[in-house]
Amino acid sequence: MRPADIDRDTFRARYGPWGVVAGAVEGLGAAWTAALAARGLDLLLVDRRGDLLATAAPQLARNHGVDTAALTIDLAAPDAIEAVLAAAAGREVGFYVHVAAASDIGPFVDIAPDAHRRALAVNCLAPALLAHHFGGLMRQRRRGGIVLMSSLSGFQGNAWVAHYAATKAYNLVLAEGLWDELRGDGVEVLAVSPGATLTPTYLSARPADLGRMAPPEMTAEAVVAEALAALGRQPSMIAGAANRRAAFVLHRLLPRRAVITMMGRYSRLLVRR
Ligand SMILES: NC(=O)c1ccc[n+]([C@@H]2O[C@H](COP(=O)([O-])OP(=O)(O)OC[C@H]3O[C@@H](n4cnc5c(N)ncnc54)[C@H](OP(=O)(O)O)[C@@H]3O)[C@@H](O)[C@H]2O)c1
Repeated sequence: MRPADIDRDTFRARYGPWGVVAGAVEGLGAAWTAALAARGLDLLLVDRRGDLLATAAPQLARNHGVDTAALTIDLAAPDAIEAVLAAAAGREVGFYVHVAAASDIGPFVDIAPDAHRRALAVNCLAPALLAHHFGGLMRQRRRGGIVLMSSLSGFQGNAWVAHYAATKAYNLVLAEGLWDELRGDGVEVLAVSPGATLTPTYLSARPADLGRMAPPEMTAEAVVAEALAALGRQPSMIAGAANRRAAFVLHRLLPRRAVITMMGRYSRLLVRR
């Protein structure tokens, strides 16, 4: 039975008792925490904004009758991974989802080297080391789930989000490899590639009028629902039927340079943060 359809007790037995959400309080992170808490997982919420965590963690516990713990940390910090492992110590973590991403917009050479370092730390190093740690423990228990958030930007080079797109390709390829490595051990791994999703980060970059370049948009809740339906069934998924149709045309029918040019034309319209 698909994880989306199983009852709360079965979900908790297969993916719990604890879940870790890295990047938990807003946007897709908030949608993941709500979906996992509704399915009975106790949750360790990791995010860099302590004020939002202080509200979100007890609220989730109240709303869903689960335990929650919160860790305020910037995932780009040099001690971030150790801090997450320390906060998770003593909790049996059966689900890990990496949501947080650094997504600077603008010409690659105009973005400061420190921002490029941050992108590697948050988008690549953190999910690799946390999947290594939690995946190892899940393999011993022969059960669990790992989700890495990728993006449609990760399917080709993409001007103005060139480094972000490259890190999303990393997430996609890492998760697919882990899917194959761990599936024989009962651990389900999935790369999730959303298109435009109505989160605060996306909305802050979306210009007022994209005209004919406007992409199909989804809610964060719809993306997570589709991801849960795909977990355990496939190595990676694109969220949304319209995005899957667009991806088919872009990646199967058009020449690669045309796709790169088209994606770059869209990204150049985004608002630089
Ligand atoms: N939204 C989209 O259209 C879209 C499309 C394709 C793929 N995705 C992928 O989906 C994931 C989530 O995207 P999103 O739009 O929800 O936005 P996001 O900017 O990744 O935010 C998700 C959560 O992570 C937190 N976070 C970000 N950087 C962090 C850091 N360094 N340390 C700790 N927490 C951090 C955010 O807090 P702050 O608010 O403080 O940043 C927020 O609570 C990302 O991996 C993104 O690449 C999103």
